Amino acid sequence: MAEASPALSGQDGFPAETDFSRDVISGLRKSPPSIPPKYFYDTEGSRLFEAICEQPEYYLTRTEIELLECYVGEISGLVGSGCYLIEPGSGNCEKVRLLVDSLRPRSYIPIDISSEHLKLSAARLADSYPWLDIQPMTGDITDTLVLPCIPENARRVVFYPGSSIGNFEPEEARSFLGSLARIAGRGGALVIGVDLQKNTQRLNAAYNDACGITAAFNRNLLQRINRELDANLDIEAFDHRAFYNQNENRMEMHLVSNCRQSFHVDGHRFELEDGDHIHTENSYKYTIEQFQTLATAAGFAACRVWSDAEALFSLHYLEVR
Ligand code: AVI
Repeated sequence: MAEASPALSGQDGFPAETDFSRDVISGLRKSPPSIPPKYFYDTEGSRLFEAICEQPEYYLTRTEIELLECYVGEISGLVGSGCYLIEPGSGNCEKVRLLVDSLRPRSYIPIDISSEHLKLSAARLADSYPWLDIQPMTGDITDTLVLPCIPENARRVVFYPGSSIGNFEPEEARSFLGSLARIAGRGGALVIGVDLQKNTQRLNAAYNDACGITAAFNRNLLQRINRELDANLDIEAFDHRAFYNQNENRMEMHLVSNCRQSFHVDGHRFELEDGDHIHTENSYKYTIEQFQTLATAAGFAACRVWSDAEALFSLHYLEVR
């Protein structure tokens, strides 16, 4: 499908292979054990994440879409036409559709860790926008990023929706925002979606959906370890747990061992007691002011921010200072 479209040209700006085995083994050795959330997103994990976004409890996606639909005119007024639109962690490339018609970018550069998913998503987008130059790049956005050649004086706009910034520790978030500021460069901008602090019940419900999709997403990490590494984890021996940690302003996800157990991963043996947790994700929630302070420390100037009537989610337009 990708080859059929003249608008697509694959690029590899940095190594696509992350060292899954090394990170899982070193994470399981920590106390308490943890695994970086970027490993959720194999093909099955990406599919489950898309299903999470459709759950009624997961208000983030639909609220952000409403904001994008409502304010795309203002965003394109600020950005102007003909920019280079860069989307780190582009996933299914669906949200960018809300910007493309109005922004008329010169080029779209989606970057994602899952190369198969990226190729299919970029090809689908190319079918819908035959006029758009699309340059997909496979890679881990937390590694050093080398972009394709972009003319010196071109306006670069980074699009980072979905509140994925919340999955970084605040200090890492500041440093990652700094990388986005360098990618956008002088005169560039960032359009970013950020989930807001709110009522704990609402947050807990969003990460404990009634259909159990978030639980399946969390446990797919164990299945992925069994599939891709030489491992023998018993998936049934782990329960999904997600809760809001009010002291840290973050949702936490864990896989809780429901018995005493041992397992091996690539020749390394691990033991867990009944009730021990593997920490799989943090999802930080900010106030608008907290996020603007973080972005300012990373080199941006806060220009505009939009929120919904219930103040669930925020959409920020920031320019590189
Ligand atoms: C991708 N990221 C912003 C999601 C979040 O809400 O932190 C991942 C997720 N985890 C559980 N549900 C969704």
